[in-house]
Formats: sequence, structure tokens, C-alpha cells
Amino acid sequence: MAAVQEHPGNLKRQLENLFDASLRSTVPHETSVETEVTACLPGRPGDYQCNNAMGLWSIIKGKKTQFKGPPAVGQALLKNLPASEMVESELCSVAGPGFVNVILSSKWMAKSIETMLIDGIDTWAPTLPVKRAVVDFSSPNIAKEMHVGHLRPTIIGDTLARMLEYSKVEVLRRNHVGDWGTQFGMLIEYLFEKFPDTESVTETAIGDLQTFYQKSKSKFDYDPEFKEKAQKSVVRLQGGDPTYLKAWTKICDISRAEFSKIYQRLGVVLEEKGESFYNPYIPKVIEELNSKGLIEESEGARVIFLEGFSIPLIVVKSDGGFNYASTDLTALWYRLNEEKAEWIVYLTDAGQHQHFSMFFKGLGNGYMNQAARKAGWLPESDKTYPRVDHVGFGLVKRNDGKPFKTRSSKVVRLVDLLDEAKTRGKAALVERGKDKEWTPEELDQTAEAIGYGAIKYADLKNNRSTSYTFNFDQMLSDKGNTAVYLLYAHARICSIIKKSGKDIDELKKTGKLALNHPEERALGLHLLRFAETVEAACTNLLPHVLCEYLYELSERYTTFYSVHQVIGSAEEASRLLLCEATAIVMRKCFHLLGITPVYKI
Ligand code: ARG
Repeated sequence: MAAVQEHPGNLKRQLENLFDASLRSTVPHETSVETEVTACLPGRPGDYQCNNAMGLWSIIKGKKTQFKGPPAVGQALLKNLPASEMVESELCSVAGPGFVNVILSSKWMAKSIETMLIDGIDTWAPTLPVKRAVVDFSSPNIAKEMHVGHLRPTIIGDTLARMLEYSKVEVLRRNHVGDWGTQFGMLIEYLFEKFPDTESVTETAIGDLQTFYQKSKSKFDYDPEFKEKAQKSVVRLQGGDPTYLKAWTKICDISRAEFSKIYQRLGVVLEEKGESFYNPYIPKVIEELNSKGLIEESEGARVIFLEGFSIPLIVVKSDGGFNYASTDLTALWYRLNEEKAEWIVYLTDAGQHQHFSMFFKGLGNGYMNQAARKAGWLPESDKTYPRVDHVGFGLVKRNDGKPFKTRSSKVVRLVDLLDEAKTRGKAALVERGKDKEWTPEELDQTAEAIGYGAIKYADLKNNRSTSYTFNFDQMLSDKGNTAVYLLYAHARICSIIKKSGKDIDELKKTGKLALNHPEERALGLHLLRFAETVEAACTNLLPHVLCEYLYELSERYTTFYSVHQVIGSAEEASRLLLCEATAIVMRKCFHLLGITPVYKI
């Protein structure tokens, strides 16, 4: 039973531990069989089920055993289940080809929720096998504006980081900004040309950095003399010339200030370690790979040949310069060996699929995985830690299915999207007369919570590998699976608690929670599934799993509330506690999804 206590919140894990014990006594010789417990689908005669009987039968049927078929194996699994206060043994059953249907004790369920109310929802946090992780996310390029394409890596990355942090993993939130490419030659040269007195250039003088980038780029493309200067400029910058370094710093600073405004609005925290950071380490890393016999010469370049690829990975270009891959390889070395990260998660847009899928396409397949494995930085199996995962995702599309661009075919700026979401959110509140009820600050904060929450949720609720359509009307609707609907549902629960006039903190200490009615029990069961859901969403790097959970939670709450009176009923105390537990779990979901909760509507 000791193992059970390791996972106070994780129902599924606790049941797995019980079935583990049962499996060991039912078939003591089959030690390699893994216990399989899943939540029952709605309408099935159980809360959870153990699915091992059929698989076990196919293993043991040729051997001499007391069993005559899968149902008998299921019966034995049920009989050998250790006694536990969480399971209602008399109500459990074996169905079909041996599925063991488990009914949880409603009393135990109520008690577990009461305990969470007292000890806090952090006691339901997942336990992961890693202590430190790197999440490499957002990562825009300096001197370019953040556009709609940066939405997904920023939002999904932040949520994954939040889920890991909730699981007590130390997360290094890395913004791997593109701050060291050849584009800096043209940017610096253009800066010198426009502002010969670079020292005094201010942010406002340069104005819109995006336009500055475009102008320097077109000059680079059409003016051969400028192009040559720009190329020399890169060499001087990379050689450490102070004048060039200063100009580079200036450009980076301006960009950084722009990026941080967006991050602040989205409530996203990132620590910048851009490409330039890894630059000084590249030669050393190349040397290490070389000493391990991994590097060869090919057409003047230094490359690594890896199994399954006809084209080698270039780590030093023929002109002696480094590239994106040299930097990423070095960053991987740094994160594994210097920062001692056990799990590294990369988020990039679809445009980089090629680069990353080549790198991390599973064991023995990716350039980087293979190189890192050959160098001894990563273990042989990609199922064990330390490990690397590339989180890819689909595109953000327009209503008509085309990629998201403005009519002038420019990419939509992220700032404009955020502004519009907030404006629309505010308009909806004003329409409901909230400007007369609330202070301007309250109105503003709620409009932001709704607007930004809507954008985030509309992104996160989709399975990340699919593309989705960006539609303000849909995401800001107060009906259906939207952030607005969920935020309102939460606010409604809060107002019920408030209206009761009861001191909820006092009630947590003195009140008793009971799950006597089917709707109460269904809600309670869903609350108790929170821990295993976050764990699944986090370990599989799939935030939509948590969104589905949250939506279903509010549905179950609505069913409960539409059937049962809360205030003034004989069960008022118990039902208020159930309301409070629902609000707490909802808030935790919002927190993990980076959405600010709303308390009144
Ligand atoms: N800066 C890159 C881009 O905007 C993304 C970087 C992703 N991270 C990495 N380690 N390569 O395209």
C-alpha cells in the first residue's frame, strides 16, 4: 500500500497499484505484464475498469493454470484485489471477456475532496520522474515583429511549462531568439547608413523595426555594393568588433522591448538565451564531437553522417562559419550537460518541420538525437530520461481556410489581434451594462481576461497537430466550448457561494461533503480525475486534454446545479463545498492554461 500513498490525488494510479497487487497474486509468474486501468466510458457499469484479463489469457492459455478463459481471469483479478476503502467491492463486477468494472466508494470520494479542500489543490499535482526541464518556446527572430504565427509556440509552450511547474519540475523557460544570423550584417549596415551617429539612436528614431528590417532587406537584395558591405559587417560583428557589437546590442534591445510588451500582456514569462548565447561554446562542442570520431570532411564543410540520411548534418560550413544546426547542437549539449536538464521540449512553427523532424523523429531517426546519442549525451532509448521532444503544431487559418494574413497579404501582427480581442471583450461587457456597475479598472481587467483568455483557449482546445480557424465571433461567444463560457461558469459558482452568506473557509473545516445523488457523484468523480488528467496532458504534451476536462467539468456542474437546489436546501453545506471544489479545480485549470479567472459577471 505504500506506493498508493505516493499519489494522493491520482485516482487512476491508486487503482493501478491495487490491480498490480492483484495481478501479482493472480499470476505470480507473469511479472512482465503491465496493469491496464482506464476510466469507464459514460453509461458503462463502472467508474474505472481493469482491462488485463484478455491479454493475460492469451499469455497463459497454453500453460497449465486453473483458469478456463478470460472471464475467469477477470473474476480472479477482482477476488484478489486488496481490500481498500476506495473501492466498493460488493458493487464491482466482471463483464464480457473479463473486464473488471470498479465502483468507487462515494464516501471515500467525498472524503478525498474534503481533504483537497483543506490541504489545497497542490496535493493533486502529478509526480513526474524529472526534476529539471527546458521548454524552448516562442523564440521569435530579432528585428522581426511577432505575428500570428508566434501565437501557438508561445501559448502552447507556456501551458506546457505551467503544467510542468505545477508538477514541481524546475522549468527553464527558454526564449531561443534568432539574434545571431547573417541578417545582422544588413541590419547593422543599414543602421550605420541611416544613423551615422549610432550612439544617439533611440527606439523612436528607428520607429517600426519591421519596416526597418524590410528596407534593409530590399537594399541587400538589390544593391550589390550594400550586400558586400553587409557581408563584411557580419564578419566584424562575429569577430567581436566593439562598434558592431554596440549596434547589434541596440537592435536587439529595441526588439526585446517590443517582444516583452506582448509577453506581459499574455502573462508569459520567458528567459532569453538566444542563439548568440551558445556561440562561444560551439567550437568546444564541435571539438568534442570530433574527438569522438563523429565529424568528417565533406566538400569543404565539416559534417556528421548519420544512419538513415543520405545528406549529412553540416556543423561547420565550408566558409568556416556556423549555422542554425551548429547552434542547436550546442544548445542541446549545454542544456544536457551544463544545465542538467532531464527533459527538453522544443516548440517551433510548422515552417521548421523539416529542420526539427530531421532532428527528433524518434529513436535513431533524427540527426540531433543520433548525434547526441553517439556523443553519449542521451541514453539509447528515447523513452527514458534525459530525453528530447519536438512539439509541432498546425497552422492558424482564416475563416476561408487560407493562412492568416491581412488583405494587403501582410502577416497579421500579434499586437493587433490582442487589441481587437480586448476591444470586443469590452464591448460585450458594456452591452450588458457592466460599465455602469463596475469601476473602469474592473471593466478593463475583465475585458483583458476575456479577450486574451478567448484567444488562448481557442488555440489550446484543439489537438495541437491540427490547424485551426481563427474566428473572433466564435471564440468570444458565451455559448459552447469557449473561454468566455467557462469564465462565466466559474463566476456563477463564485456568486452562488457568495450569495449563500456562508464563510466558505469555515465550512471547509466544519462541514461534511456527501455525494449521495447521481449528479453530485458524477461531478465529484470528475473532480477526482483532475490529477490523472493533468498528468496525461503534461506527459503527452497535449494541452487540449486539459481543455476537454475543463469543459466537461462545467457541463457536469451545470447538470448538478440544474437538478439540485444549493442555497436553502437540507444539503446546503455539502453542496456549497462541492461548488467550492469545482471552482478551485476550474481555477487551477485556468491557471495551467494561462487564463485569468473572472469572479463576477
Ligand atoms: N528563432 C526560430 C524561428 O523563429 C525558432 C527557434 C526555435 N528553437 C530552437 N532551438 N531552434 O524560426
